[in-house]
Amino acid sequence: MSSIKLTSDSTYPFSSAVMHLVELLFVSSLSVATFALDNGLMRVPPMGWLAWERYRCDIDYVFTRPHTRLSEDGWRELGYVYVNIDDCWSSMKRDDNGRLQADPKDSQEASINWHATCMTGVSSWASTGTWAHTCGGYPGTTLDKIELDAQTFADWEVDMFKFDGCYSNATEQEQGYPLMSKALNATGRPIGYSCSWPAYQGGLPPKVNYTQLGEICNLWRNYGDIQDSWDSVLKIINWFFENQDVLVSAAGPGKWNDPDMLIAGDFGLSMEQSRSQMAIWAIMAAPLFMSNDLRTINSGARSILQNKIAISINQDPRGIPGRSILKEKSGIDVYWRPLSKNASALVFFSRRNDMPYRYQTTLSKLNYTTGSYQIYDVFTEKTMTLKDSTSFVVSVNPTGVVMWYVSAPAKRNIRQFYRGGRLQGSLFDDDENRISPVFL
Ligand SMILES: *[C@@H]1O[C@H](CO)[C@@H](O)[C@H](O)[C@H]1NC(C)=O
Ligand SMILES: *[C@@H]1O[C@H](CO)[C@@H](O)[C@H](O)[C@H]1NC(C)=O
Ligand SMILES: *[C@@H]1O[C@H](CO)[C@@H](O)[C@H](O)[C@H]1NC(C)=O
Ligand SMILES: *[C@@H]1O[C@H](CO)[C@@H](O)[C@H](O)[C@H]1NC(C)=O
Ligand SMILES: *[C@@H]1O[C@H](CO)[C@@H](O)[C@H](O)[C@H]1NC(C)=O
Repeated sequence: MSSIKLTSDSTYPFSSAVMHLVELLFVSSLSVATFALDNGLMRVPPMGWLAWERYRCDIDYVFTRPHTRLSEDGWRELGYVYVNIDDCWSSMKRDDNGRLQADPKDSQEASINWHATCMTGVSSWASTGTWAHTCGGYPGTTLDKIELDAQTFADWEVDMFKFDGCYSNATEQEQGYPLMSKALNATGRPIGYSCSWPAYQGGLPPKVNYTQLGEICNLWRNYGDIQDSWDSVLKIINWFFENQDVLVSAAGPGKWNDPDMLIAGDFGLSMEQSRSQMAIWAIMAAPLFMSNDLRTINSGARSILQNKIAISINQDPRGIPGRSILKEKSGIDVYWRPLSKNASALVFFSRRNDMPYRYQTTLSKLNYTTGSYQIYDVFTEKTMTLKDSTSFVVSVNPTGVVMWYVSAPAKRNIRQFYRGGRLQGSLFDDDENRISPVFL
């Protein structure tokens, strides 16, 4: 994978506004002390479009003009700013100076078109590097080519770079991933760095050192590639939450676990399942890279991917990934993510295949402290107030979710008073935690 972002470069004036907006929004998170790769990038999970799942080596996807669609169809304003190409874009031969080059035969027309569009609008472009070969058999980046290729990508004004791991062994990876991080830094261009290293080493300690990854990479693929099916999404969800004790502490501002692309708008998921993927990716603080055809995406998938509350939960500046907190025998899982301002997100997910299931619980059973909470249902847009002890029922569709934004608890109302032997005023000061209209 590799990438382009709607850049802040002055050659592309259209995009500079976005980047400044992004910087403004997330400036507050910069003060959080973490040990992340020190390139100032990706303090919240990166968002954008990525060719691979939908298009693989069919490089003609450039004619779908994903960057234009991102700009013109409201995606960019929501944070989807990276345009990532992947493997198979390059020539089978490096040029006379040993530099990677675009394929002069197959993709010349495509790349001309691509660059022409860049000039009028959005981005630079990026690409994938690997070792002896890329996964698709194109020229790879062996250890001796790391500095040259990093410089080439910087010269091309690439904003994000993924170093895949095909055709390399553990020793080369141990040397190559940190070396590439240094080489990208040495170019002077801030380039988001995505590492496939853990995915090639089973994703878990002791083979994978997440402390080190957090110091050298902005994001990393921990596990296998996503495919266009619910089975594939479910396999990924299961692996990430089975290993949450390792993975949750690995991630934070500037360093993210990457469970792979969003596939809403493709062929394999129902609307319920698309919502489930969006909700659980938001809970995981996962990068949101869609892989779909933005020209023909249906309105249902679009509204799921453009759901502002799901996105703002994903982009929460504290950057703490959520956890699976309950797995009920009934097939309902509950996921919880702590957010800024003492708010949180809850997802009720059904593994059932039979019918909508009415799940009954209380917030105190989910370990919420005493108080009154404002609830915003992310996909139905309904709001309500719930006390910790109030029993409630959520109806969760098969393979679907109910997702809530939960405010901070309101404290007991100090303005309560007795009159005529009766308590007057409401028990909780509900104004205190009213969901901010700015957030909505
Ligand atoms: C390179 O690393 C240094 C030290 O960690 C950091 O201050 C600087 O911002 C980095 N530059 C880029 C372009 O990533
Ligand atoms: C890894 O690859 C390098 C370069 O191809 C080779 O020299 C080395 O012996 C390999 N190491 C292992 C453990 O296979
Ligand atoms: C993991 O990496 C960190 C930072 O590079 C290092 O300090 C630590 O010793 C490593 N842990 C192991 C078990 O190798
Ligand atoms: C969050 O909760 C803690 C502990 O209850 C409290 O001390 C803190 O003031 C709260 N922060 C905000 C922003 O409400
Ligand atoms: C609630 O907290 C208790 C004690 O820390 C813990 O054992 C339990 O698993 C938690 N339950 C949930 C649903 O988080």
